[in-house]
Amino acid sequence: MNYDVKNIDLAQEGKRRIEWADNDMPVLRLVRKRFEKEKPLKGKRMSACLHITAETANLARTLQAGGADTVLCASNPLSTQDDVAASLVKDFGIPVYAIKGEDTETYYKHIKAAIEHAPQVTMDDGADLVSSIHSDYPDLWSSVLGSMEETTTGVIRLRAMERDQALKFPVIAVNDAMTKNLFDNRYGTGQSTVDGIIRATDILLAGKNVVVAGYGWCGRGFAMRCKGMGANVIITEVNPIRALEAAMDGYRVMKMEEAAPIGDLFCTLTGDIHVLRAEHFKLMKDGAIVANSGHFNVEIDIPALKEIAAECRDRVRNFVDQYVLKDGRRINLLADGRLINLAAAEGHPASVMDMSFATQALATEWVVKNAGKLTAKVYNVPFEIEDWVSRLKLQSMNIQIDELTEEQKEYLSSWEMGT
Ligand SMILES: NC(=O)c1ccc[n+]([C@@H]2O[C@H](COP(=O)([O-])OP(=O)(O)OC[C@H]3O[C@@H](n4cnc5c(N)ncnc54)[C@H](O)[C@@H]3O)[C@@H](O)[C@H]2O)c1
Repeated sequence: MNYDVKNIDLAQEGKRRIEWADNDMPVLRLVRKRFEKEKPLKGKRMSACLHITAETANLARTLQAGGADTVLCASNPLSTQDDVAASLVKDFGIPVYAIKGEDTETYYKHIKAAIEHAPQVTMDDGADLVSSIHSDYPDLWSSVLGSMEETTTGVIRLRAMERDQALKFPVIAVNDAMTKNLFDNRYGTGQSTVDGIIRATDILLAGKNVVVAGYGWCGRGFAMRCKGMGANVIITEVNPIRALEAAMDGYRVMKMEEAAPIGDLFCTLTGDIHVLRAEHFKLMKDGAIVANSGHFNVEIDIPALKEIAAECRDRVRNFVDQYVLKDGRRINLLADGRLINLAAAEGHPASVMDMSFATQALATEWVVKNAGKLTAKVYNVPFEIEDWVSRLKLQSMNIQIDELTEEQKEYLSSWEMGT
């Protein structure tokens, strides 16, 4: 079997982590159990470009249980858990191409290796795999039955391809499922971004001015958790509705230019480019901490920071590079501006990935079942999948909910009944 991982001898520790995560993934376990019996993905070649974490390993095991011949590569050079990658290869026989800290050349070499598996189904977190297939592998276009996309940034890229009629095969916007973004983006990113920042810096959040750029699902979650830990949270936004929502949720809302001199910690969660720029760095206090939890490492203009700095002290602490401006002020950049929750912590907790990845696995089954019927469009996850995942998650949490009575069903579907 071909693979490229850091050290295959790390497998034992990786297996322990995979099993620990699996304990908190009851819905995915149920999917896996059914897949083992029914083999809905039998014989299908799958390539998945995802963060190689313990939770992803459990998704890969589920796809494998369904009969898919699966290979994995990393969707980010810094997010791979090397022990998990080793265990996937050694204990589960799933080829993995991913090494934490790999350079850009290796990152794309790994994507290429996953594409050379000639996938019939693909899975992406940020659309790098699908983009590479579109630009460099035209021979594969007609054989891909469909592709699942895990994150907001990827869905934005794929919708742009659809708009420009550049999309060559069907894509399922798993990110847009409520069983994904409401929970994974909000509670998962919220908690794990705090976790990553604390692991990287060990700062006390209480009493700090935390500037959150972007009040989408991820920004809301992160702001909520920082507020809960006693920080004074400031939101910056470009969307007036989101800005209003932030204001009415009780946060201060202002322009980045105004927030820059006040903030102790800045975190971007926008999916946009150069949200923090030279003009902002120049206004920041000594010791300001700058991090990103959006998908790509372009939200912070790092080249501009390098340009205005007199000196860069690499790794003053793990995951912290310190840029010293000409007047001596220090700006601390975390994890090279890459997803802080995956670089410095372990990504989202398993319990929330349970919902995202159960949705992923079921969307994959849906694509295979509907092979030939789907066209080169971006599809939403069918409602039945979301309904099933949310009901089972509730069940696993021992939470019962009411059901509509016949009278209520009639009332809610009629227009004649009034007061
Ligand atoms: N860290 C993680 O593990 C993780 C998990 C899920 C999603 N993501 C990524 O996080 C990013 C945000 O995802 P989301 O689901 O919250 O998206 P979203 O679309 O719900 O929210 C993004 C928000 O950023 C705002 N924004 C855009 N440009 C801005 C700017 N210049 N200044 C201030 N605000 C700006 C938008 O108006 C929007 O409200 C995406 O890149 C997504 O792929 C990361």
